Amino acid sequence: MNTLYEKYGGEPTIKTVVNDFYARLQKSPTLKPFFEGVKVNELIDFQINLFTQLMGGPKFDPSKYGTSIPRLPIKDENFLEVAEVLEDTLISANIESDDIESILALVASTRSTHG
Ligand code: HEM
Repeated sequence: MNTLYEKYGGEPTIKTVVNDFYARLQKSPTLKPFFEGVKVNELIDFQINLFTQLMGGPKFDPSKYGTSIPRLPIKDENFLEVAEVLEDTLISANIESDDIESILALVASTRSTHG
């Protein structure tokens, strides 16, 4: 079976989507403070690898990246907003709605990464 990674064009698509996602997060007045002082380029690089793996593409070794934990406590409402921004990002990238549901579920399952 085709993976979501292959279906949507692999690396170039994931790069575009993740860059767009982080640009959108930083435009939100409520989410912006979480990213202040954070090396967002490194975070984007990490997330490109994570999304690639979640969508069935090549696996990566997270231990190559230093673990960083957001210094502001993340509330449920922050998670909800981030999920909405991701959904909007995926809609803009012309991902089919069934696949958007799958991706949101996969991402939510890794939520324990921090808080
Ligand atoms: C399902 C939801 C989420 C997932 C899967 C996720 C995943 C991750 C991962 C894998 C990292 C990198 C950790 C590392 O470098 O080892 C990270 C970092 C970060 N996340 Fe999230 N995250 C989620 C939600 C959020 C939310 C809701 C916020 C803020 C509102 C947030 C803010 C951050 C920040 C600021 C960092 C970087 C911390 C730093 O480098 O100092 N994340 N996240």
